[in-house]
Amino acid sequence: MEKVLVTGGAGYIGSVLVRILLAKGYKVRVVDYLAFGGESLLDVFSNPNLEMVRADIREKNYDYLNGIDAVCHLAAIVGDPACKKFAKDAQEINSEASIALYAECCKRKIKRFVFASTCSNYGKMTDSSQFLTETSELRPVSFYAELKVAFEKHLLANYSKHEVTTTILRFSTVYGLAPRMRFDLTVNEFTRDVTAGKELVIYGEQFWRPYCHVYDLANSMALTLDKDKALVNGEVFNVGDTSENYNKKMLAENIQNVIGSIPVKFVPQTDDPRDYRVDFSKIKNKLGFTITKKVPDGIREINNAIKLGIISNPFSEKYSNI
Ligand SMILES: NC(=O)c1ccc[n+]([C@@H]2O[C@H](COP(=O)([O-])OP(=O)(O)OC[C@H]3O[C@@H](n4cnc5c(N)ncnc54)[C@H](O)[C@@H]3O)[C@@H](O)[C@H]2O)c1
Repeated sequence: MEKVLVTGGAGYIGSVLVRILLAKGYKVRVVDYLAFGGESLLDVFSNPNLEMVRADIREKNYDYLNGIDAVCHLAAIVGDPACKKFAKDAQEINSEASIALYAECCKRKIKRFVFASTCSNYGKMTDSSQFLTETSELRPVSFYAELKVAFEKHLLANYSKHEVTTTILRFSTVYGLAPRMRFDLTVNEFTRDVTAGKELVIYGEQFWRPYCHVYDLANSMALTLDKDKALVNGEVFNVGDTSENYNKKMLAENIQNVIGSIPVKFVPQTDDPRDYRVDFSKIKNKLGFTITKKVPDGIREINNAIKLGIISNPFSEKYSNI
């Protein structure tokens, strides 16, 4: 495998993945329409092994697939609020353009296709004593997750008819520092607010979610590319670590442990439809995936970056997908 296309390669996760792939010796091509700018790729832009194509994947010109061996598909309208606000774009990009891109990959016999899906697909667990696995029922409770589930189903219904080794990675909620920062993600947002001296207001402290550092998530995609077809073809993997499921109260406690005593206001909420704890043994046992960072590491790095002024205005709109 030599040349990898990263769709959405200028994004939060994609910009980290690009660097991992370059470091592993791959040639990388990014296709991205730069919704949040391209500064995230500045220091690798002149790398002879990186090629940048500025394009919208809704366009039907697939020249950017010429010479490509593998596709890591991350381009999307990302998150529940953004998909609600930009519903037409979400339908076109996360569904129609993704289906068309996969069809083109099949037609061209691209060797690999790895899709960035989400654990949000699980929605709400029915039994709070259990951890959800890849075979648990998907109960999407947002348009964002509905679109992810629909594309997963499309891939699973079609992969065996083609030669493209196809893998679905269901990412945990991501956190941590990346060349394209996002502060509309729980750990990053909470840490930013506390670092800025704001009171931490937590709605629905009891709701569970798994979290994973952006480096580890990106690394799981690179790892998947290296694995034998028999291990990954037509497979779904949750990406994260079973020890990294937290409810929001636990996140507040972890922030407190790292940053010190902070004012926290808990606002009761019973109607958050998303509440899930996830088991990650499959990716660990089958692919040997392990995480290198935990939530407190992410809190620490974000707190430091803001305190030192490395990120001068973390409240800037550019750090949010909405
Ligand atoms: N952030 C998370 O917690 C999380 C969790 C699970 C899954 N994911 C998935 O991982 C992927 C990347 O997420 P992210 O957090 O890096 O998001 P992001 O918004 O930072 O990056 C998405 C990138 O895709 C590009 N893009 C969007 N539509 C495009 C189009 N039509 N043509 C070309 N480029 C386009 C954007 O310009 C952007 O650079 C997404 O598919 C997302 O659903 C993210």
